[in-house]
Amino acid sequence: MEKLYEGKAKEVFKTDVDNEVIIRYKDDATAGNGEKKDVFEGKGPLNLAITTLVFEKLKKEGIPTHFIKTLNERDMLVKKVVILPLEVIVRNISAGSFAKRYGVEEGIVFHKPIFEISYKNDDLGDPLMCEDHAIALGFITKEEYDYIKNMTLKINKLLQKIFLEIRLKLVDFKIEFGKDREGNILLADEISPDTCRLWDVETNKKFDKDIFRRDLGNLIEGYGEVLDRLRG
Ligand code: TMP
Repeated sequence: MEKLYEGKAKEVFKTDVDNEVIIRYKDDATAGNGEKKDVFEGKGPLNLAITTLVFEKLKKEGIPTHFIKTLNERDMLVKKVVILPLEVIVRNISAGSFAKRYGVEEGIVFHKPIFEISYKNDDLGDPLMCEDHAIALGFITKEEYDYIKNMTLKINKLLQKIFLEIRLKLVDFKIEFGKDREGNILLADEISPDTCRLWDVETNKKFDKDIFRRDLGNLIEGYGEVLDRLRG
């Protein structure tokens, strides 16, 4: 297969169909903009299986996604989109860069979800962005910004419910959107413990990439438990 692109955790391959590509989930883990690196055997298949279950649930609820079907333990067939250069983040509980930036503790429950965007650019360290900046730089129109914000807050509600059902709090998450040939904006990329913070509702034990970022234990066991709980 011809490789179109390789990122830190995934590769994208061409297919025979013009409008479809294959995303292959790698075992590589990076943190701190690539400063910390490791390989965890089996992480790719776990993230693919979790993303598949989550995308299927979101699709059922009417969220437009690039997901077509999962082909095997590493590969997902998706609609080809041009990824917008934005990391779209929602925070329900303080953690990570929010806690660090404002010098507050982790675990503060926000009265309403915080919607945040940053510029997806590794060389610049994915800087925080605001609506006007994204529009001024021509990344999106005002209408597209509003659409993405509404859609993201809807996705947040659905994800909170999906994870609460398996006794996990959705602390925060990052998603990406892409534009298809017809100009539709679709939820793309992945939704997995690499891209969400998930804490156990009783113990606040972490089941996400903070296990790797902060050396908190066995990442594969943590991600494996998220998948097991999702499968019920
Ligand atoms: P942050 O607290 O480091 O800004 O991260 C917020 C959420 O976004 C968290 O769930 C992790 C996720 N995230 C990614 O998936 N990729 C990234 O490159 C970054 C910076 C965060």
